[in-house]
Parts: sequence; structure tokens; C-alpha cells
Amino acid sequence: MVLDLFVAGIAVILVALATNIRGSGSTGYLSVALYQIVAFSTTLQTLVTEWTQVEMALGAISRVRTYILDTKDGNLPNETGHVSDKWPAKGAVVFNGVTASYDASTDPVLKDINLSITPGEKVAICSRTGSGKSSLVSTFLRMLELQSGSIYVDDIDISTTTRQAVRARFNSPPQDPFFLQGTVRENLGPLRVATDERLIQALQSVRLWDFCESRGGLDEDMNEGTLSHGQRQLFCLVRAVINPSNVLIMDEVGGSVDADTDALIHEVLQKEFEACTVIAVVHKLHTTLDFDRFVVLDKGRIVEEGPPRELLERPGSLFKALYDSMQTEER
Ligand SMILES: Nc1ncnc2c1ncn2[C@@H]1O[C@H](COP(=O)(O)OP(=O)(O)O)[C@@H](O)[C@H]1O
Ligand SMILES: [Mg+2]
Repeated sequence: MVLDLFVAGIAVILVALATNIRGSGSTGYLSVALYQIVAFSTTLQTLVTEWTQVEMALGAISRVRTYILDTKDGNLPNETGHVSDKWPAKGAVVFNGVTASYDASTDPVLKDINLSITPGEKVAICSRTGSGKSSLVSTFLRMLELQSGSIYVDDIDISTTTRQAVRARFNSPPQDPFFLQGTVRENLGPLRVATDERLIQALQSVRLWDFCESRGGLDEDMNEGTLSHGQRQLFCLVRAVINPSNVLIMDEVGGSVDADTDALIHEVLQKEFEACTVIAVVHKLHTTLDFDRFVVLDKGRIVEEGPPRELLERPGSLFKALYDSMQTEER
């Protein structure tokens, strides 16, 4: 508005001068001058808009710079240990009296968790909502601080090495599918650890290859909008299939997908991760009875554990109660 008023002022002065000064040229010149003034107004506005945009862009750069320079390293001083490239070679996981909380002042969400998982074992974790399943997964990925206890993977205490190493070495498909802007290949693994054949084979294992191929193959730009919810979950699972890690930990992947996709996810788990240690938070109990062991949590404690068939037969078992409530839900 200021610019417009300014230009209007100039125009008024021009007209006033032109009509009051005798012999000040032709009407033609006056029209050209007026036209120029209107154009000048647009030019001024563009200038100001562009200037503001440059300032905004510079502001964004400066914020990123401040973030890079000022953000503290997430690792504590003693968390600098290096691990061998092969770790975890076997995939034995041991939770030793793990107690953890989100905030030191609140009650711990995990209390004295003791769990020993042998290499290649498939362990399912289940419980009612809010009992600490996701917290257990976060603790394992070092996103939650331990108050006491320790977690060992292949005889290495994961709190002695860097958090980056822990998160890179374990396979953990996200609960909410996540996509990058880029091609299918970049989305499968920005670090390009796998060959094209391996990528295609992995996509075939979740029956997504035909779909990708019909849309231009690996080099096509990824448009996650064209994938259904189930397909997005499967796509995230492909990343895990490609990642050569011996430990897979996942939180309710398949929690909100249809029965067919859920069955496919379990088929992939059995086939592609046969040799890996799998720790999975599961929601649909009757489709996951093929896991070796179930761990039932309640209020942050392990209340039951054992092979699923055995738990189902145990009188008064919480697992049986959960199982039955889910069956009724299905109906
Ligand atoms: N980010 C958080 N900050 C504080 N408390 C949390 C946070 N996330 C979860 N909790 C608490 O931790 C407890 C366990 O939650 P969660 O591990 O998400 O349960 P589940 O995955 O079994 O449903 C809940 O009581 C919840 O209120
Ligand atoms: Mg959860």
C-alpha cells in the first residue's frame, strides 16, 4: 500500500505540473509519462517481493547452519566405542534388568526387564496399549535413556558404542512408513549397499516388483501417493530385507493393514529373516502364532513369556485373555 500511495503521489505531482506549467510539451508525452509511472509501481513491488524472498531464503540457510553448529552430539562422553564391521554377527540379545523412563522425574515405563534372546530366535512382544511395547523398542534403539540395567548384543553393551552405530546396525522398519523425495532406488537405500538384482529380488519377495516395473522400474521417481497403505508398509520392509543385519526389531508393522498384507509380511519374516533374530511388537495374535516365543508386558513389566501354544494352555494366562479379546474383536 505504501508503494502504491508513493506512486500515486508521483502521478499527482506529474499531472499537477503538466497542467500548470505553460508550454510543457504535448499530451502524447504526458500519456507516456503516466504509463511509465504505473509500470514503475509494478517494478517497485516486484523488487520488494524478491528482496523479502532472498531474506527468507537466507534466514533458512542461517537456521540450518546454527542447527549444525550448535546441536550437541547425542552421544554421551563414554559412548564412543567402536564396533567391528561385522557386529552383530550372531544376533544374541540380552536385556539385563532394564529400567527406563522418558523423564527422570516420572515413573519408569519399563521396569526390570530381563530377557535373553538366542541368535535366530523370533520373539513377539504383545500387551494392552500403553504397557511399554514401543518404549522397549525405543530403548533398544537408544532413544530412551536407561535408568539402570544394560542391553547386550553379541556380548557388546550397546550403551558403550555410538548411537549411530546401534541404529545403523539393527534393522528397524518404522511404524509409520517414511519416504524420501527421489527415485525408487534411493528410497530403498540412499547408501546404495545392494546391487540392482538384490533390490529387484527383494521387491519381488513382497510382490511389489511388478508394480514398480510397470511404473518405470528402479530409476523412476517415487510417488508415495500411488502406493496403498499396505504397499507402503511392504516397501519399508523391503529396506529391511536389503539391509544385511542379523537383528530385526519392529514395532507393529502390519498393525493397521488388511489380512492379506499382514499374511505377506509374516511370510517375508519367515523366509527372508529366517537366520536373523527378530523382535517384533505384534498386534494381531492369531496370525503370529508361528513366533518362537511371546513376551507379554503389563505396566512395563514382563508378566509372561513362553511359546505361544504353551501360553494359550496356561490357566489364567494374560496372553490367553488378550488372544480371546482379539478373536471377539475380529468377529
Ligand atoms: N514420548 C513420551 N513421553 C512420555 N511418556 C511417554 C511417551 N511415549 C509413551 N509414553 C508413556 O509410556 C507408556 C508406555 O507407552 P508405549 O511404550 O507407547 O506403549 P505401547 O506401545 O505398549 O502402547 C505409556 O504410559 C505412555 O503414556
Ligand atoms: Mg506402541
